Amino acid sequence: MLLLTGNDVIKVLDMADCMEVVEKAFAELASGTAVMPLRISIYPLDGLALYMPAYLKEMGALACKVVTSYKNNPVKHNLPTIMGKLLLQDPETGDVICIMDGAYLTAVRTGAVSGVATKYLARHNKGQKAGIFGAGVQAKTQLWAMAVARDLAKAYVYDIVDEAVTKFIKEMSIKLNLEVVKADSPVQILEEADIICTATSSPTPIFDGTKVREGTHLNSVGSHTPNARELDTAIIKRAKIIADSYEACLNEAGDIMTPIREGAIAKSHMYAELGEIIIGKKPPRADDKEITLFKSNGLAIQDVATAKLVYDKAVQAKIGTEIEL
Ligand SMILES: NC(=O)c1ccc[n+]([C@@H]2O[C@H](COP(=O)([O-])OP(=O)(O)OC[C@H]3O[C@@H](n4cnc5c(N)ncnc54)[C@H](O)[C@@H]3O)[C@@H](O)[C@H]2O)c1
Repeated sequence: MLLLTGNDVIKVLDMADCMEVVEKAFAELASGTAVMPLRISIYPLDGLALYMPAYLKEMGALACKVVTSYKNNPVKHNLPTIMGKLLLQDPETGDVICIMDGAYLTAVRTGAVSGVATKYLARHNKGQKAGIFGAGVQAKTQLWAMAVARDLAKAYVYDIVDEAVTKFIKEMSIKLNLEVVKADSPVQILEEADIICTATSSPTPIFDGTKVREGTHLNSVGSHTPNARELDTAIIKRAKIIADSYEACLNEAGDIMTPIREGAIAKSHMYAELGEIIIGKKPPRADDKEITLFKSNGLAIQDVATAKLVYDKAVQAKIGTEIEL
């Protein structure tokens, strides 16, 4: 069995490759060749533990991720909010062939699905600007994916913690060779950005949805529990909503579930699943005025596709440690 550390995964995992396999995974989901039960959630102490299995038949990928989200980890234990490990299996025998660290993988696959959504849904105007809410781990891969999906002219970042913004700008402007600046307020992002990603740990809405400009595309990555939400009812009502999965949105996404509970929208307000757009079952945006919003809860198919990619690349590059249990 191959053991891949976080550093091993970093060495082989690239955003553009990840976007390619994640797009294929969503196409499999929409075409009926993916098996993905709703993940199991457990709330131990002040955290959330998720158990996420899936099988992608066409890709020959079978895996399960154990991932946790402990919002107090950075302050309380000097550990990241999100931590995870993956077990990759051989679909022929069922045996576990690889254990790999899942923290970086999770961040990259979460960026990747926003990248794929942006590729299909954002406008194609020149000199596009990205606006990122949150300057944490997921926020970085969101911007990375935006830069793969579109030729960005500039990016804005807003976080309630100044130090996080400073670190984000330093790291991402060099990594992407892009002008990345601090937004002084949430409104500045709404006024400037063509593509917005929300990747915060906030349990309550982070901006006024009535102020989002026509034509904006949003990727909402943060809250994915029934009672937390980053987005207010106004933006959910105004936008064409594309879900990663209807089932996940109706069971896990406070951003969608709260407006439904309030009676502000019906379930049918969700227009499509991302996979349906990818396989051409439903057209993407209707015109340049429409606001499109991709709600990401994080699906096991993203992890499974990415884990298979990482494993194949690691074997090819002879990276990792063989162990016997
Ligand atoms: N959809 C998915 O697939 C997926 C995957 C992983 C994580 N997540 C979620 O993404 C969120 C971010 O995760 P992370 O790993 O980046 O956490 P993180 O702790 O590294 O970063 C979160 C950042 O959000 C900032 N923040 C909090 N409230 C804010 C506000 N009102 N405005 C602006 N910034 C604010 C914090 O200061 C922090 O810098 C979490 O809610 C996590 O559960 C989603």
